[in-house]
Amino acid sequence: MASNYARVFQNTDAVEKYEHVTYAPGSYASSINARQRAYLRDLVRRAFPARPPVQHDFACGTGRAIRSLHGLVRAAHGYDTSVDMLAKAAELGTQATLHPIPADGPPPLPASAEQPALVTMFRLLLNVDPAVRDRALTFATRALPDADAGLLVLENHGNARSLRHLRARRHRGSRWFAELSHQELDRLLHQHGFEIIERRGFTMLTQGWYERRGLRPIARSVDAAARLLPGTDDYAVNVVYVAQRIAQLRSWQ
Ligand SMILES: C[S@@+](CC[C@H](N)C(=O)[O-])C[C@H]1O[C@@H](n2cnc3c(N)ncnc32)[C@H](O)[C@@H]1O
Repeated sequence: MASNYARVFQNTDAVEKYEHVTYAPGSYASSINARQRAYLRDLVRRAFPARPPVQHDFACGTGRAIRSLHGLVRAAHGYDTSVDMLAKAAELGTQATLHPIPADGPPPLPASAEQPALVTMFRLLLNVDPAVRDRALTFATRALPDADAGLLVLENHGNARSLRHLRARRHRGSRWFAELSHQELDRLLHQHGFEIIERRGFTMLTQGWYERRGLRPIARSVDAAARLLPGTDDYAVNVVYVAQRIAQLRSWQ
C-alpha cells in the first residue's frame, strides 16, 4: 500500500478532489477540521507558553495542519512526496517552507533543529504500511530527540473501536479500507520512544451521517454533546493523539 498510497496524490485531479470534494465547505472532513483547528490552537498556546515552536508537518499535503496554526508557530516546514499537493499548499497561502521528499529510502531529516519543535502528522498513518509508519516516526524522533524538545501530534481517522468498524466487514479484502486501534498506535509510538500524553476525539459518527441532508443537524448535535462527555474519545471515529519522547529515553537508548 505504501508506494501506491504516495502515488494516489501524485496527480492534479486527486489534489483538486482532496481540496474541493473531501474538504468542501460543510463536508464531513471540513467539520472535523474546524474542531481540530480550535483544539490545535489551544494545545499550542497551552504547551508552548514561553516560546512558539517550529512546526514540522510530515505528509503535509495541502498544508491543512500548517494553516491551522498560522501565527502561533515561529516557522513551519511541510514535507510531502507529492509535488502536486505541495503546489496546492502554496496556492492556498500556506506560510511554510515546503519540501518534496522521496516515498522511501532513508527517512528525511527535519529542515531545522530549532527547539521547541512541533511535529504534526495528519491523515497519514492509517493508510500506509508499517515501513512508512516507521519512516515517519523516525523523522519525528529526529525533530524531537528528547522529552523536552516538544510534541508530536498525530491524527488517526479510522479508529478501529468506533462506529466506522461496522463497515469493516463490507470492505474486507479491500486495500483501501484500513483501521488503526488506540493500542496499535500506542505500541507504534512506544517502539519509537514516544508516550501518549493526551487524546481527543473529533467525531463519533461516520461520513454518511454528515452527507444525508436530514441527518446532518442530528450528527452535529451528537458530536457537540459527545465532546462534553468524558471518555468518548475511546470510541470516536477520528482521534488526535499528543505524544512526547519518553523521559528516561537517554538511559535506554
Ligand atoms: C490524505 S493526505 C493528508 C494531507 C494532510 N496531512 C492533511 O491532513 O490534510 C496524505 C498525504 O500523505 C502524502 N504521502 C503519501 N505517502 C507518503 C510518504 N511515504 N511519505 C510522506 N508523505 C506521504 C500524500 O502525498 C498526501 O499528501
